[in-house]
Amino acid sequence: ALVEKGSYRHFMEKEVHEQPESVQRTLSAYLDPVAKAVRADIKAAIDFKNVARIQIIACGTAYYAGCIAKYAFEKIAGLPVDVEVASEFRYRTPAMSPGTLGLAVSQSGETADTLAALRWCKEEGLKTAALVNVHTSTMAREADLMWPTHAGPEIGVASTKAFTAQVAALLALAVAASAQRGRIDATEEARLVQCLLETSGLIADALLMDPELQRITHELSKARDVIYLGRGAMYPLALEGALKLKEISYIHAEGYAAGELKHGPIALIDEKTPVVVIAPDDELFEKTASNVQEVAARGGRVVMITDTPQKVPALSGDASKTLKVVKGPTCDPFIAPLIYAVPIQLLAYHTAVHKGTDVDQPRNLAKSVTVE
Ligand code: AGP
Repeated sequence: ALVEKGSYRHFMEKEVHEQPESVQRTLSAYLDPVAKAVRADIKAAIDFKNVARIQIIACGTAYYAGCIAKYAFEKIAGLPVDVEVASEFRYRTPAMSPGTLGLAVSQSGETADTLAALRWCKEEGLKTAALVNVHTSTMAREADLMWPTHAGPEIGVASTKAFTAQVAALLALAVAASAQRGRIDATEEARLVQCLLETSGLIADALLMDPELQRITHELSKARDVIYLGRGAMYPLALEGALKLKEISYIHAEGYAAGELKHGPIALIDEKTPVVVIAPDDELFEKTASNVQEVAARGGRVVMITDTPQKVPALSGDASKTLKVVKGPTCDPFIAPLIYAVPIQLLAYHTAVHKGTDVDQPRNLAKSVTVE
């Protein structure tokens, strides 16, 4: 079927705005909203008690979705997860322990490196799964288990709704793993499922940040370099934010774990290098806030995206002028990567529109990299 842009200027813009529905649709395949539990068919297809470790292999944005999943699986299910870019994994003779599940994450299900890595896992005799948006793809056919995302067709080269669909599905699977491994009881499973079920509405709230983020991009589009910072699951989101900006606005950007700042990148801070900090309230908030102060004290311009502006320490003198706080929706830290993906996407989108680049077809890039 022909997919049209409708009233949107670009497919990317349309796809960003579709996320309340695409995440909801995806979660419907994993969650039982009445029982407030992971669906029985999902749990019947795999018993995470028998999985000793998950090896996620993916490229680009799908890789970052995998990195976010690692935080959730290890935290709530006590299940070790390794995540690696497929182009490295496939050529380095990785050592796989028995009981490892090889999990390919891919929008297209056709990315050459990810497919080769999946095939390598199969040849090693590992059980395999593929989390794919194209359910008829090669990976979907070849993996032992196919987990779908229901983002719908993604046309923009820069992945947006496929990413949040991947993260949503992976978080639901982490809940399944946690329940099956006896880490949570039915009450806690119901609470986490409820969090996921509220995601769609919170994504809709996050989309309301659009005009404010758009105003910020006037300045962002003039930058030569941008730094993104986050802690915990916001760290891979910082990496994803930097990738989005690079891809469509052609501005150089780097994502860092906020705690790594003082180990090198702080040397880059000056008044010309904006720093985007993704910091919804969680147990690490104060630490990230102190990183913001370190940046501001060095004249760095900070855009801080958070749900708790009241907790951002007041800066004195010149430093206060360089800090811009953008308020996002309040949410449980478990689902924060899904909600805070939205402002990150919007920042990149409006910066690119400002610069007048070809947002849906950025230079040198293909939607799916099916040859090496
Ligand atoms: C994301 O914006 C990209 N253009 C790219 O990194 C993409 O995520 C990557 O090529 C993986 O594609 P896949 O999900 O189809 O495997």
